[in-house]
Amino acid sequence: MPASLATPDEHEHASTTPKKETLPEPSGELLPTQASSRRIVLVYGSTGYVGSQIMRLIDSGETFGGIVVTAVRAESRLEYLRDVEDELDRVRPWRVINCGGLTGRPTVDGLETQKAAANRVNVAGMLLLAGACLERSVNLTYIDTGCIFEYDEAAHAIGTGVGFTEEDSPNFFGSWYSLQKGVLETLLRAYSNVLTLRLRMPIDDDLGPRNFVSKIVRYDRVVNIPNSMSVLPDLLPLALDMTFAGVTGIVNFTNPGTISHNEVLALYKQYVDPAFVWDNFTEHEQSLILAAGRSNNELDTTKLRTLNPTRRLPHIKHAVEQCFRRMRDAGVQPLDTDARKAASRAAAQKTPSTMPSGGEDLP
Ligand SMILES: NC(=O)c1ccc[n+]([C@@H]2O[C@H](COP(=O)([O-])OP(=O)(O)OC[C@H]3O[C@@H](n4cnc5c(N)ncnc54)[C@H](OP(=O)(O)O)[C@@H]3O)[C@@H](O)[C@H]2O)c1
Repeated sequence: MPASLATPDEHEHASTTPKKETLPEPSGELLPTQASSRRIVLVYGSTGYVGSQIMRLIDSGETFGGIVVTAVRAESRLEYLRDVEDELDRVRPWRVINCGGLTGRPTVDGLETQKAAANRVNVAGMLLLAGACLERSVNLTYIDTGCIFEYDEAAHAIGTGVGFTEEDSPNFFGSWYSLQKGVLETLLRAYSNVLTLRLRMPIDDDLGPRNFVSKIVRYDRVVNIPNSMSVLPDLLPLALDMTFAGVTGIVNFTNPGTISHNEVLALYKQYVDPAFVWDNFTEHEQSLILAAGRSNNELDTTKLRTLNPTRRLPHIKHAVEQCFRRMRDAGVQPLDTDARKAASRAAAQKTPSTMPSGGEDLP
């Protein structure tokens, strides 16, 4: 259901008074073959970390104004325009969500040796999809990244609480992943049918390999920098609300505020693994073992909260603690960090440029 109007006071941790900007009325004409009782959302990247959670959420019985919404897995590959167009014409979706693309394995460092392939899928493919959807008057939501910024002393210094807004242009190009995402985001501003959601360091309720918590728990050493992060159980329902309501443009897609690595790990220790210990290192020391740079930043969430006034969006520190409480209550077991760290150390001795292993958006 689209969010409805609410007073700014209903926001948790609202730091500024939201402008009079809320979800627009539902838009998107239904094509003649679509029964009015059913709307189809075509999902790219449905097997991935974020896409599989979006599929589950839609399949759990999402409705829009009383109309049942059904998720369909996209089969075409983003870079093959004819296949994409055929699929759009066959499925005739009401909305498209793209969570697909090359994200790098074992980390975003993986894209440093796959630059042309990443351009083809992530940049060219996404632009082809956006154009094909525009031609068919279909709105497209893109699960993108906020790792296109880094703290800067001039206007967004660390710890000041001044986050990057949707009007800011990318200022971090230290990895191919971030560079191409920043370029793409800028190009996507030309498409009036696209909603770009800037996700960062996603955390969810289990300890799967792509969960940001799992990544940093398994590293030998971690930096300790406050960052904006996205707790998926809080945020994905907002993605659907905005998608269904036809919101377009760029939206920072994180919980409000920042949390540091040590704060996340302390909560992991408190709720999941009392025996857990970890070491820190500096950004410079980290840079010596990575092939590419990593982004650290705070994103301003005023627009997200203003667009979704009736959804509760807790401050990131509260959100992460709630996540760990749910894990504890569900009996989630500690990660086997000793074996992983030993493997990580052994691999690091062989290929120092690609360690530590883990996923993207490693700080
Ligand atoms: N996970 C994170 O830490 C994180 C953080 C911030 C932002 N994001 C963004 O969130 C989005 C989703 O990330 P994710 O972590 O869920 O990715 P993921 O787990 O790596 O999954 C990628 C998905 O894309 C599909 N895919 C790959 N190449 C494709 C192509 N050519 N055409 C169509 N589909 C293709 C994959 O399907 P196959 O397996 O069939 O290839 C898979 O379903 C990405 O835009 C990413 O940049 C992720």
